[in-house]
Amino acid sequence: MLERNNTILPDETNANARKLAWRDGLPYCVEFQDVYFSTDNGLLETEYVFLQGNDLPARWQHPGLSNFTIIETGFGTGLNFLCAAKLWLEHAPEHAVLHFVSVEKYPLTLNDTTAALALWPQLNALSTPLLHQYQALINEQTINLYDDRVQLSVHIGDATEQLARITSMADAWFLDGFSPAKNPEMWHAGLFCEMAKHAQASTTFATFTSAGDVRRGLIAAGFKVNKRPGFGKKREMLCGEFIGFDNG
Ligand SMILES: C[S@@+](CC[C@H](N)C(=O)[O-])C[C@H]1O[C@@H](n2cnc3c(N)ncnc32)[C@H](O)[C@@H]1O
Repeated sequence: MLERNNTILPDETNANARKLAWRDGLPYCVEFQDVYFSTDNGLLETEYVFLQGNDLPARWQHPGLSNFTIIETGFGTGLNFLCAAKLWLEHAPEHAVLHFVSVEKYPLTLNDTTAALALWPQLNALSTPLLHQYQALINEQTINLYDDRVQLSVHIGDATEQLARITSMADAWFLDGFSPAKNPEMWHAGLFCEMAKHAQASTTFATFTSAGDVRRGLIAAGFKVNKRPGFGKKREMLCGEFIGFDNG
């Protein structure tokens, strides 16, 4: 490990770990020069942006709920997944199943994921079973967790390419990924088009970014887009629902 400007650089001998460094005690991607989650508080950011942005606390209290599918771009450290699973286990009916489907181009190693999730001891009860099965998840794509109340799938590869192969329909989209300015290859019309193909009347989305290109791309793909105050230092974020093009 090398240390430079408060950043602990990753071990160059490991192809996966090449993507993850540590800056000021938080996971950081040297290649994209971006953070895995907010430096203000990643856990609160996930709750605010993705869980509340999709109105999940209210939607998951419904007694008739039998299953729900979230599709996410960029599994990263798994923090969004764990926060969603925690909320699900606390609020959804016991017989209901959460399907969490994520796509990830640069999966982290088990060691890096373990180190990143150690930042959140309050999630230990959920992260420990995930870490036990992490290698199986990467190798086999799908695992069941928490007494089979949650099914997690991670498709390895570029978001748009992987989404084109997925048959699941989303009830909610977690549109994550490094910032559009730093990762323009991911945030393009093809991605928004895939989101629309995996959306139906009640499908919502939320994202931490309020970039104009993202807002316009989502609208062009058939999403109604709202702006909300952003988390921490971010001025605004986007959330909304799929309306298609048959809206009068
Ligand atoms: C900000 S991090 C996501 C954080 C994550 N949701 C979490 O809970 O830790 C962005 C993720 O998007 C992934 N990514 C970047 N470009 C991608 C692409 N074109 N397709 C799929 N994943 C991509 C990165 O490898 C990284 O793990």
